[in-house]
Amino acid sequence: MNWVVTGCRGQLGHALVALLEREGVPVRAADLEVDIADPAALAEFLAVSPRPQVVANAAAFTHVDRCEREPEAAARANHEGPAVLAKACREIGARLVHVSTDYVFPGDGSEPYAETDPTGPRSTYGRTKLAGEQVVQQTCEDALVVRTSWVFGRGRNFLAAILAQAASRRSGEAEGPLKVVDDQIGRPTYAVDLALGLYRLVEAEARGLYHLSSAGRASWWDLARFCLDEGGYPDLVVERIRTGDLELPAERPAWSVLDCSKAETLGIRMRPWQEAVRAYLHSEDSPLAKTTGGNP
Ligand SMILES: NC(=O)c1ccc[n+]([C@@H]2O[C@H](COP(=O)([O-])OP(=O)(O)OC[C@H]3O[C@@H](n4cnc5c(N)ncnc54)[C@H](OP(=O)(O)O)[C@@H]3O)[C@@H](O)[C@H]2O)c1
Repeated sequence: MNWVVTGCRGQLGHALVALLEREGVPVRAADLEVDIADPAALAEFLAVSPRPQVVANAAAFTHVDRCEREPEAAARANHEGPAVLAKACREIGARLVHVSTDYVFPGDGSEPYAETDPTGPRSTYGRTKLAGEQVVQQTCEDALVVRTSWVFGRGRNFLAAILAQAASRRSGEAEGPLKVVDDQIGRPTYAVDLALGLYRLVEAEARGLYHLSSAGRASWWDLARFCLDEGGYPDLVVERIRTGDLELPAERPAWSVLDCSKAETLGIRMRPWQEAVRAYLHSEDSPLAKTTGGNP
């Protein structure tokens, strides 16, 4: 099967392209040079022979706070782009694999969110992502839409930011304890494992909506503490704070735990997030390579 991957320089896109190449699957990939919301640019990209049988959309505007300040850019990448992509896939008969987010939920629950649970996004990011997944499902009835959460991989992410802050304290560039919120609970997810899960869902010919995240749950504080312990900063103090202390532009769901049992019925279960963090810290994409000059 021929694949196309959009958003290929993002965390997931990079991992997906690397996986497909390792598997010997023919893949063509693009990032911002093919704006998924531009029908002409997209049609030209998809028209190249051989036509793709699977189009995986890893492109998105994922800067959650910037989405509040730039709602048009958010809508373009997260809603209009998937709409254009879905129409193009329908026209060429390609299977669309689209990725969405836990932020489509209101976050006031206490049980893991299943695919059938009512949505209710509280941020521009969440609303535009929900509109994107809905238009994909309305346009391509055989599309696979996968919601995931708290992604880390090659590039910009929470773990890389925490390790950079830790390094700046060790070097003396910054001082004072790190402060991390402890009142948001979710499922951290390694982009490499997510890419494999998506690939296996496609192999299993899964259609419709699925949740896919690493196993277990954590607060951002738990994730930061674990990453610092594993990454060579066990003595660094991390203060627990509350989301409200940060006064961020975008509201975050307090409870963001996805129920992934539907994917598990197909035999697709991701490893616990702690194992995934260890694997990330030992990988060639590890932020430790930048902050300490080497892997742990
Ligand atoms: N990151 C998370 O914690 C998280 C959590 C839940 C769900 N997700 C979802 O998982 C998927 C992958 O996320 P990720 O973390 O891999 O994202 P990412 O690292 O931000 O990568 C997304 C890529 O898409 C590019 N892009 C933005 N607008 C585009 C457009 N109109 N056309 C083509 N490319 C465009 C981005 O470029 P720029 O970087 O220049 O904008 C970036 O290279 C997304 O659907 C996201 O919503 C992510």
